[in-house]
Amino acid sequence: MMRKKILLVFGTRPEAIKMAPLVKEFKKYTDAFLTKVCITAQHREMLDQVMDFFELTPDYDLNLMRPGQNLYQLTADVILGLKPILEDFCPDYVFVHGDTTTSTASALAAFYNRSHICHIEAGLRTYNKYSPFPEEMNRQITGRLTDIHFAPTEGAKQNLLKENVEDDKIVVTGNTVIDALFYATEKLKNYSDDEIRKLSGMIDLSKQIILVTGHRRENFGEGFKNICAALSEIAKNKEDVQIIYPVHLNPNVQDPVNKFLSNINNIKLISPLAYPAFIWLMNQSKIILTDSGGIQEEAPSLGKPVLVMRNTTERPEALTAGTVKLVGTDTEKIIREITLLLEDKEYYKSMQKVYNPYGDGKAAQRIVDSLK
Ligand code: UD1
Ligand code: UDP
Repeated sequence: MMRKKILLVFGTRPEAIKMAPLVKEFKKYTDAFLTKVCITAQHREMLDQVMDFFELTPDYDLNLMRPGQNLYQLTADVILGLKPILEDFCPDYVFVHGDTTTSTASALAAFYNRSHICHIEAGLRTYNKYSPFPEEMNRQITGRLTDIHFAPTEGAKQNLLKENVEDDKIVVTGNTVIDALFYATEKLKNYSDDEIRKLSGMIDLSKQIILVTGHRRENFGEGFKNICAALSEIAKNKEDVQIIYPVHLNPNVQDPVNKFLSNINNIKLISPLAYPAFIWLMNQSKIILTDSGGIQEEAPSLGKPVLVMRNTTERPEALTAGTVKLVGTDTEKIIREITLLLEDKEYYKSMQKVYNPYGDGKAAQRIVDSLK
């Protein structure tokens, strides 16, 4: 039997976390699949942290990241970088994930090579062209190029059906982020990690921990200024609170955060954490304040209330269940919502449910099964 040739392409931290379970699953079936991994390295350090933890070795590394890179150059570099790989390996199926520049540019390159395109985390939508930017259009464009849509939820499938995607081209699988979370949680049980040891020495666990992350392009400038103003106000007013903020390496984030939040006693600005340390920290936290997509999916499994610093979300399931709330980047609103969660025990409890709307840990298995 001829083996099917599979190429998985990814480039950023969240894509790597969510593609890692799929790489591992494909590699179990060496008789059915010849599996290769190409990293664009749209991210470098933040990607390598994930590759190390999941023990993944790429077959191709385009090594594209440049400090302060722009969307035009990166898009062109991904397409040109993939050309010789696609021509040489001639994959039957190219797997891309989600909504990054790597995903869309790779899907386009795969289309030029006439490979089948498989989209993981397909069908998420806000239908707002600029929010999140450029991710909403990235996933819509990728969706148009896709041959098999792996939708994480029934809601995502419904979005695709409304866009006239044929039913038999959509497979509902759950989100592989939950596979990754379960894998990491299991590994953490017997895991001794310097980063976690260092972190637990630095954090005062007798305080209420607020974990913050942020990186959305639409929040650059005014948005980040407002977020910093809210955090510094909360830190000043609430002595029993400790804010821990692993700061994304994008200079558009580093600059305002370091300018406005350095040297505040109960705010700790730290480097991006490797995945196990970040999960450990989410578990220690009382509240998570973020604009991240992936964290909105992980937090309900850990029973952590999330305030989302965005005006729209393509992940409505947790919003409907009431464990996630949109707060945008309005300083007063962020302060009000955090204060409410800190002071009103009943309200906090109502946002604290542990459940898994985004998956059951078997998404990668379902994806690979559907291709066997
Ligand atoms: C990218 C994705 C976004 C995703 C996010 C996850 C696009 C357009 N954006 O945004 O969808 O949600 O990743 O984090 O695809 N940098 C480093 N080291 C790293 C990573 C980034 O120094 O390991 C710095 C570099 O200066 C780089 C800059 O961050 O040029 C921006 O990286 P880029 O991938 O273009 O944008 P993100 O904001 O990370
Ligand atoms: N994450 C991590 N270290 C950190 C911050 C986040 O490993 O310091 C993980 C987090 O658990 C989630 C993913 O990175 O799985 C989210 O990435 P990000 O917020 O950068 O991107 P998004 O999900 O918004 O595309």
